[in-house]
Amino acid sequence: MSDSHLTFCFLSSILALIVITFIFTKRKKPSLNLPPGQMGWPLLGETIGYLKTYQALTLGEFMEKHIARYGTIYKSNLFGEPAIVSTDAGLNRFIMQNEGKLFEASYPKSLGGVLGKWSMLVLVGDMHRDMRNISLNFLSYAKIRTHLVKDVDKHVLHVLSSWKHNSTLSAQGEARRFTFNFMAKHIMSLDPGKLETEQLKTEYVSFMKGIVSLAPVNLPGTAYRKALKSRSTILKFIEAKMEERAKRVQNGDALEEDHDLLNWVLTHTNLSNEQILDLVLSLLFGGHETSSIAIALVIYFLPSCPRAMQQLREEHVEIVTSKKKTGEVELTWDDYKKMEFTHCVLNETLRLGNVVRYIHRKALKDVRYKGYDIPCGWKVLPVISAAHLDPELFDQPNQFNPWRWQGNNSKSDNFMPFGGGSRLCAGSELAKVEMAVFIHHLILNYNWEVLDGDEPFVYPYVDFPKGLPIKVQSYSSIKLPN
Ligand code: HEM
Repeated sequence: MSDSHLTFCFLSSILALIVITFIFTKRKKPSLNLPPGQMGWPLLGETIGYLKTYQALTLGEFMEKHIARYGTIYKSNLFGEPAIVSTDAGLNRFIMQNEGKLFEASYPKSLGGVLGKWSMLVLVGDMHRDMRNISLNFLSYAKIRTHLVKDVDKHVLHVLSSWKHNSTLSAQGEARRFTFNFMAKHIMSLDPGKLETEQLKTEYVSFMKGIVSLAPVNLPGTAYRKALKSRSTILKFIEAKMEERAKRVQNGDALEEDHDLLNWVLTHTNLSNEQILDLVLSLLFGGHETSSIAIALVIYFLPSCPRAMQQLREEHVEIVTSKKKTGEVELTWDDYKKMEFTHCVLNETLRLGNVVRYIHRKALKDVRYKGYDIPCGWKVLPVISAAHLDPELFDQPNQFNPWRWQGNNSKSDNFMPFGGGSRLCAGSELAKVEMAVFIHHLILNYNWEVLDGDEPFVYPYVDFPKGLPIKVQSYSSIKLPN
């Protein structure tokens, strides 16, 4: 074969290859029908607008404007990635139900840096399932029935019995004192009020601020740097507790398996020290910050709705009165189940207060939904608060109206304060018990008013800028035990 013939064959093969590749890629990748939206600035995208502080009882200006302009599903560039934001209740459910198949959790790197790579929010796949099972065992329904209601009761009383008539206090601080003490006791057997418990609580405050910091930059003075420092202080503390337990075993003392979470993981699992540290740290964090803000929100909402206060009092006086007849003192699971109107108040608080606004996911495959394409690899942000404030789904959504949850309305597919699917909040039942028992003692013993016009804002975590100052008056003749 001559050189020119060879060259001709070579060039025609290349040309054929180009044509085939062109046809193939054209066929394989038809043009995508992305939802409408704008990508914002290079790198930053629209992240600054998305994270701008707003009043917690609204969706915020950014979200409202974007929904008005683009509809309930829109594209953007957030947290450094192209993203699809979904305020559509149906799509949000679809995303949560397809965890691990079409979508998976994908939180910003800053969160993994502070919570740790073994934290449950960051884990996916089999490792997530294993850690979740451990947490569910710790928080299991059966345990809540037999032990936890009683223990929650004790910790609520510890906090509420310290309130003085006519005093002013930070309701958010008090709610945090209760939820932190409770988790610290159940995870590591720390006693409320002890110096080590108080120091650990203080570390958690700066830890929390770093978790949500917009710029996860490890530079002096940044919230992220402070959070990393708090992380290492907290880890040293937990490690010391683990060493204490190991020494006890060396000295021939058997660890009581169900004593606390730390004992349980040491005796029942093969987790490495690093995994145990991240698990303990994130459960302690996840288990107190969210439920304390939920309790603060109840304290904030109730004074504006005297009728709900009255109905709550009637419900709880009845529970106490019937207990007195049988000589029972401590609250039980059966008492909790009788708190029907209280559950309406809990639902309404979670609906209107929206403790968790949105969750972070990414698409594992190209997904088509209602004619829109969600490309594989894109960030997906289901905004679970949007359905809760949608007038099409909840009549007069800005009104605090616990009665909307009565009767057949007690469940709604559009109500997702604890997420859903295989990542549904592992502590949802515990959180509800904590809220209900707190309300029980609060409503029976105090009246209160909110001072200084404090109200909740989204930073993006929900917080009261002044700590929700309240003035309390002792209310009833039903005395708290000392
Ligand atoms: C009112 C209080 C609470 C709210 C609103 C809340 C909300 C949520 C939400 C929305 C998720 C889903 C996150 C996602 O899908 O990416 C979640 C997950 C989780 N929550 Fe809660 N939570 C609360 C209280 C608690 C408590 C008391 C605990 C106890 C330790 C807890 C432990 C967890 C854990 C371990 C996960 C991760 C579950 C998993 O990935 O499988 N939460 N929570």
